[in-house]
Amino acid sequence: MVRLVVIDKDGRDVEVDARAGLSIMENIRQLPRSVEAICGGLCSCATCHVFIDAEWMQRLPPRRYEERLMLAGSRSFDAARSRLSCQIKMTAELEGLRVTVAPSDP
Ligand code: FES
Repeated sequence: MVRLVVIDKDGRDVEVDARAGLSIMENIRQLPRSVEAICGGLCSCATCHVFIDAEWMQRLPPRRYEERLMLAGSRSFDAARSRLSCQIKMTAELEGLRVTVAPSDP
């Protein structure tokens, strides 16, 4: 298990014992006030949008083209912090990662 901290849509810190090998989205979607992940991880909805704390952003694999495309359509897109949580696999190296669930697009 890998410790992951999620700041939910109500601003609460929630600690998750995440499973390595699953995506961040798969590890957090069951939480109340978390990501919706409507497409189930197919990179086609952007409802799994999260903000990543700055110190972690550079340690993640870069956004692929499809992820960049989906994020560009989100009103809360922040170039410095936005990621789709379905596109990042949890690994032991991400122990202590903090992510904030982005506001839903209207
Ligand atoms: S779950 Fe739809 S883009 Fe991530």
